[in-house]
Amino acid sequence: MACGIAILGSTGSIGRTTLRVVSWLGEEYRVVALSGGRNWEELAKQAQQVKPRLVATAYPEVVEKLTHALEDTDIKVAVGGEGLDEVASHPQADIVVSAIVGSAGLLPTMTAIKCGKRIALANKETLVMAGGLVMEEAKKSGAEIIPVDSEHSAIAQCLAGHRREEVERIVLTASGGPFLGYSRAQLEKVTPEEALKHPKWNMGDKITVDSATLMNKGLEVIEACWLFGLPQDRIDVVVHPQSLVHSLVEFADGSLLAQLAVPDMALPVQYALTYPQRTTSPIEPLNLLEVSSLQFFPPDEVAFPALGLARRAVETGGTAPVVLNGANEVAVEAFLAGKISFNAISQAVEDTLGILDAGSAENIDEVLAADFEAREVARGAVGVLEREKV
Ligand SMILES: NC(=O)c1ccc[n+]([C@@H]2O[C@H](COP(=O)([O-])OP(=O)(O)OC[C@H]3O[C@@H](n4cnc5c(N)ncnc54)[C@H](OP(=O)(O)O)[C@@H]3O)[C@@H](O)[C@H]2O)c1
Repeated sequence: MACGIAILGSTGSIGRTTLRVVSWLGEEYRVVALSGGRNWEELAKQAQQVKPRLVATAYPEVVEKLTHALEDTDIKVAVGGEGLDEVASHPQADIVVSAIVGSAGLLPTMTAIKCGKRIALANKETLVMAGGLVMEEAKKSGAEIIPVDSEHSAIAQCLAGHRREEVERIVLTASGGPFLGYSRAQLEKVTPEEALKHPKWNMGDKITVDSATLMNKGLEVIEACWLFGLPQDRIDVVVHPQSLVHSLVEFADGSLLAQLAVPDMALPVQYALTYPQRTTSPIEPLNLLEVSSLQFFPPDEVAFPALGLARRAVETGGTAPVVLNGANEVAVEAFLAGKISFNAISQAVEDTLGILDAGSAENIDEVLAADFEAREVARGAVGVLEREKV
């Protein structure tokens, strides 16, 4: 029987890539449920194409249009948090692709984990906010978590067949984003349009800005701590502008294993779907003879302080990573709306972390409460930085 796939966030960049991969993989895989946000037209178009059993939108204000667009089909339409949970727990879904952006991905991903599904995890914010709870719940339910982030997919591939005790450290590669080499003074003047022009990857807006500030790499360090059971000080970050080496693992004997491929998210998505098998993919293999150089250098943590903030938050533990994440989401939104400068994004996160003490994050309610409070405080911090910009 075909392997059933549910996609949380099918209208986004990873969601669309997943649909491309599933279509490539053919009859062995079947999409059974989809969820989207505001983009009901795209969700309806996808549903007409792949004919899932269920579609859900997170937003009640678009459900009428979505229902109308699908009225000549027998596809069930669901809405809100309950709708997302229905997608995440669909009885015919063997794999749930977690590709909603930001903290909104946490609860439906948790639902899928509780149901013991295989999770193809793109939504790193789930692990940043509630890594301990997620890993504990996955152990209980038997849910497998296969990372979709290209760096973590690379690490998982390098670790296959090895014991964790053999690992000395992990090396995450970072493209450096569009502002590689910029000083803090130059960064003060960059615009949202410039920040959204990533040199190597075509992604959703939030992660593209996170890549430009290096917060994305900070979130990835936290994600790697939980996925691979290592402290943050054994997870190094190196800038590698070519984005061909997706990450590396250094073993006890000094060997470094790396995974290389052209930068295309179809590959890690496909790996998470077909794991532990590999099959042909729509991606052109990397031609080594066309690679003129592979460069690696340390990140500039003075111009890009977000990476250090993330390291400190995971070291502090408790709700500190929740605060980091919530404040970052608020600040990125304010930057994209033209309210604050690029440098003010990490400043707002730092100010919020400075105001809120880390509390306990032992259950989801505590995590959600900390997220709510962080957003309130971050909005205040953003307000101050907004006035300074004027
Ligand atoms: N893009 C990449 O290459 C990449 C690589 C590695 C990891 N990731 C991670 O994957 C996740 C998705 O990234 P992306 O780039 O695909 O983002 P994206 O293009 O912005 O897509 C986000 C998806 O989430 C949906 N959504 C937005 N707000 C929602 C809400 N409140 N409730 C429910 N659904 C909501 C969107 O729906 P509508 O568009 O219909 O509103 C869309 O389907 C992020 O956590 C990111 O860090 C992405």
